[in-house]
Amino acid sequence: MAIGVFDSGLGGLTVLEAAQKRLPDVDFIYLADSAHAPYGVRTADDIYNLTTAAVQRLFDAGCDLVILACNTASAAALRRMQEGWVPEGKRVLGVFVPLIEAMTERQWGDNSPPREVAVKHVALFATPATVSSRAFQRELAFRAIGVDVEAQACGGVVDAIEDGDMILAEALVRSHVDALKRKMPHPQAAILGCTHYPLMQDVFQQALGADVQVYSQANLVGESLADYLTRHPDKMGTGTSAYLTTGDPKRVSDRAVQFMRRQITFVSA
Ligand code: DGL
Repeated sequence: MAIGVFDSGLGGLTVLEAAQKRLPDVDFIYLADSAHAPYGVRTADDIYNLTTAAVQRLFDAGCDLVILACNTASAAALRRMQEGWVPEGKRVLGVFVPLIEAMTERQWGDNSPPREVAVKHVALFATPATVSSRAFQRELAFRAIGVDVEAQACGGVVDAIEDGDMILAEALVRSHVDALKRKMPHPQAAILGCTHYPLMQDVFQQALGADVQVYSQANLVGESLADYLTRHPDKMGTGTSAYLTTGDPKRVSDRAVQFMRRQITFVSA
């Protein structure tokens, strides 16, 4: 039974790759909604409608479990989907919680009351839709007290990455880090709250400085998925992956190879 991994574009490949390494016997189907990326500048209703259509495509392909490897979809649509849309026998999981659990020093599913944690000043970099949803702050408040979060909406970065314009992406990341530092001069930790941003992780780290701990989701989600699968072992397969896109498969495959530095062949969704 393949596990579905969904993103608006290529960013979720960072999560998929970590999951493939951590779980080499699991089959995955990746879906990039490239025709509609970026999601980060869309309304919550628009993101909900696009995300449910994409997840339905993965259910139709036989996936019982779909990971939203997209913070924007997790922030704007996941709760609404879980409350009224996900059919019986299917599951949809997001990417925030593993990251926040790591930052707040919690084990998976630890629902004890919020408590003080070591990090006090956190910079959040995410898409405009994720920042305006305040979903990170909400999930954090369930688990930690006394953490000051300064959010920076990083307009333009996802478009530049999807277009393969890494010079522009790098310049935008530097200017967003500068803007953040004007609001919070000394963050202790930074959250890369968009699955595209690990592709720019070195630039974030350099601009923030070596003393800032940068959290990105890929490995954390891989670990938390492994943990989930020990409780749901029916998901084991033969380690094959398929790649679907709503965009132009040739163009999307070329970009995927550029970023992930291995052969990845997308076909039409
Ligand atoms: N990778 C998506 C995320 O994690 C990008 C969103 C977009 O398409 O703007 O938020």
